[in-house]
Amino acid sequence: MEKTVFSNHLEITDREMETALDYASSAVLANLKDFKDKFQKAYSEDGFYHPIENDYWTCGFWTGEVWLAYEYAKAHAVKNLTDGSVVPDAAEALKEAGEVQVESFLHRIDEKIEVDHHDMGFLYSPSCVAAYKLIGSKKGKEAAIKAADQLITRFHPVGEFIQAWGPMNAPENYRLIIDCLLNLPLLYWASEETGDPKYQEIAEKHIHTAVANVIREDYSTWHTFFFNMETGAPDHGATCQGYRDGSAWARGQAWGIYGMALAYRYTGREEYIEIFRHVTEYFLQHLPEDLVPYWDLEFTSGNEQPRDSSSASIAACGMLEMVKYLPKEERGYYVTIAKQLLKAVYDTCAVRDFTKSNGLVLHSTYSNHSPYNTCDHKGVDECNSWGDYFYMEALTRLTKDWEQYW
Ligand code: GLY
Repeated sequence: MEKTVFSNHLEITDREMETALDYASSAVLANLKDFKDKFQKAYSEDGFYHPIENDYWTCGFWTGEVWLAYEYAKAHAVKNLTDGSVVPDAAEALKEAGEVQVESFLHRIDEKIEVDHHDMGFLYSPSCVAAYKLIGSKKGKEAAIKAADQLITRFHPVGEFIQAWGPMNAPENYRLIIDCLLNLPLLYWASEETGDPKYQEIAEKHIHTAVANVIREDYSTWHTFFFNMETGAPDHGATCQGYRDGSAWARGQAWGIYGMALAYRYTGREEYIEIFRHVTEYFLQHLPEDLVPYWDLEFTSGNEQPRDSSSASIAACGMLEMVKYLPKEERGYYVTIAKQLLKAVYDTCAVRDFTKSNGLVLHSTYSNHSPYNTCDHKGVDECNSWGDYFYMEALTRLTKDWEQYW
């Protein structure tokens, strides 16, 4: 397979990465005044996140940012964004906030607050698994194992997949979505911690079903895929957040890239490496000139459609994960691409002035309603919580030997 090369694009430099992480960590710290007991909404409005309770599928990303900033603050001075002075005990403040939020996640799973969906990994990996790995949080471990228990209740033995949304056992809900590949590391982690293989066995079955159905012949991807309730046979693909059935929703493709890297990490199945290469190639071939993806890969250079910068950061994280397992001679290629994507995000989307936005990365799109899709219209051309999180994760991956939360 010929691989796309962006010969006219610069890579983000070490200095730019340092500046970017420095700003991001300072902004996370500054945001604790509003978002310690509360969480950031999934998307900003006119550049500003508002506080919400811990009751949405995206809340784990904010806590993940707190932990990434904590990791940064342990090794670097973190500045006050108003006067540039060094904040004393920044790491301690971030750790304390992270612990407060872990308590909230434990409460959430104990009380079953908005956990009737598959996003337990998005919620509990960057918050509670991270807390356990970083500071040995017992509450983090307890909460994350309970979240894994919750997630496996959504597994359908008929069809062998984890149902994404809605009440179980209704034909209109009998589907998986590509995003779920990021929810599965929680199950592998739970098997490792408990010694009980049941979590991992379910994850493995779901990966197999997902890969067999969401990836099309040309290596573009379906956002969602339905199964027959009686027989479990694959039925049909459909979009929810993409432009139309049959197009490639940019973030879905990016979840596919990162998802295949994680699938390989946990299963060791060689065929996933080749799928990773192809799914990534499709994504790269459909990027516009400036490398900041449109919200759907159907749209290319010269379009007025909104962008989804978060897809670039997610894809970069997936490539940086996959390079750990690739032959030596291939690693440089994906690191270069990841750095080029991050350079594009840094240059054109990164927030540099806290008075203009309390987020980190502009020009992201949550759900853009079209005449051909089924999603609500929200968070279009704004900061998105996961866009901020994966930007920080990608920068962290590139600047230190990072023990991942996923
Ligand atoms: N997992 C939902 C989304 O990416 O918007």
